[in-house]
Amino acid sequence: MSEATDRDVTTALDPERVRARAKELYDREFADLLARTPKSRVMFERARSSMPLGVASSFQAAEPYPVYLARGEGARVWDVDGTGYVDFHNGFGSMAVGHAHPKVAEAIERAARTGTHFAVTTDAAVLLAEELCRRFGLDRVRFTNSGTESTMDAIRVARAATGRDVVVKVEGAYHGHHDAVMFSVAPSLQLVTEADETGVQPPASLGIPRAAAALTTVVPFNDLGVVEDLFSRRGQDIACFILEPVMMNIGIVLPRPGYLEGLRRLCSEHGIVLIFDEVKTGVTIAAGGATERFGLQADLVCLAKSIGGGVPIGAFGGRAELMDLIGNGVAQQGTFNGNALAAAAGLAALTEVLTPDAYLHLGHLGKRLAGGCEAPIRQSGLAAHVVDLGCKGCVSYRAEPLVDYRSFLETDAQLFEASWVWLLNRGIFMTPGNEEQWTLSVQHEDSHIDLFVEAFGEFCQTLAG
Ligand SMILES: Cc1ncc(COP(=O)(O)O)c(C=O)c1O
Repeated sequence: MSEATDRDVTTALDPERVRARAKELYDREFADLLARTPKSRVMFERARSSMPLGVASSFQAAEPYPVYLARGEGARVWDVDGTGYVDFHNGFGSMAVGHAHPKVAEAIERAARTGTHFAVTTDAAVLLAEELCRRFGLDRVRFTNSGTESTMDAIRVARAATGRDVVVKVEGAYHGHHDAVMFSVAPSLQLVTEADETGVQPPASLGIPRAAAALTTVVPFNDLGVVEDLFSRRGQDIACFILEPVMMNIGIVLPRPGYLEGLRRLCSEHGIVLIFDEVKTGVTIAAGGATERFGLQADLVCLAKSIGGGVPIGAFGGRAELMDLIGNGVAQQGTFNGNALAAAAGLAALTEVLTPDAYLHLGHLGKRLAGGCEAPIRQSGLAAHVVDLGCKGCVSYRAEPLVDYRSFLETDAQLFEASWVWLLNRGIFMTPGNEEQWTLSVQHEDSHIDLFVEAFGEFCQTLAG
């Protein structure tokens, strides 16, 4: 697209007018959504008597009810009313292999016939452990059942290794729902300001002991100076720094050049364990996740989501001297760890589906999708930007790229909401919430990208008027 076709700066959009238009579009599209999803409504009425909020996880809840899905195949999913969508949500980033991939289905069918669970380590678990070690440069890994367990166990190993208790995490980052990391997950501007004044972070859930706050310290993303200062004052108390090397709880926020290298150096200098939470970035933004993409080795790496090919599994691993504390005083266990079905599915996903060619395909699709969204944004003059990272990407409604959580708070949620329902009504199944991002699968094709780009282009045009 040529610069000449971009909206002239002298006719820049009035943000208030755009917001009002977004609200109008949202109301109209949302009414259409409710009208065409009666079976989801019925499902919700039924589900809410057996499950809080009528869903299996609070992330799945929506007002007045969520769209319930019936099935998925390839790059597509169908809701309980029979409407088909191209899936860009992909199970919050767990389905880089796409739905019902023949190779993964075959591995699952084989496991179903030969035994799904023994609570005894199988050859598939050993092979999968080796593949994870290879991809992420790890000496050892242990399996868990979720990302939450992976970060919980990694923090325990770090505390054991250092004999220190304090965990440092990034403002506005999500690492699962165990107590140590449930601080400053998605605080409002008011909470952020209050925490600045009091120096105290309130827990992000009821039921977390207030005393836990003393053991978790929060720093902004992308600010080495703050970390340097904190480590020089309190380094002796700090067990670990846990972070997503690319923040993916607020759209997608890339590390500034030198940030990760600086953290690596500071952690080494102060004997603090550096933990990369690669639950979202692992095996998606590259075969070896952010570790490979940025060429930097953390002490421990946490994994889950797409490593299982759509089956629940997690893992964490790192240097032998840390991981070998397991068996030397650190408890790490679980009935379903390394479960035969999950290991078989994960092994097929990583060794048969997510091949080097698959990553080329994902990179190609991602680039096309990001470019296809960027053009109408520029053309319409909307205050938004696009991020493209392997099979992950997003549109964030702020003109400049984000650098940390506070810049995320400046994104326009109203515009996101309008785009989400607009796309949903045009066959695009996307993650709800502007803190999320799309995930492409190996089963997506150019035609699926075209559909998204066309619908998104119409949205921008309609919004800008
Ligand atoms: C970066 C990150 N870490 C950890 C988790 C927790 O993973 P799980 O939902 O499997 O417990 C998530 C979940 O979205 C995540 O995005």
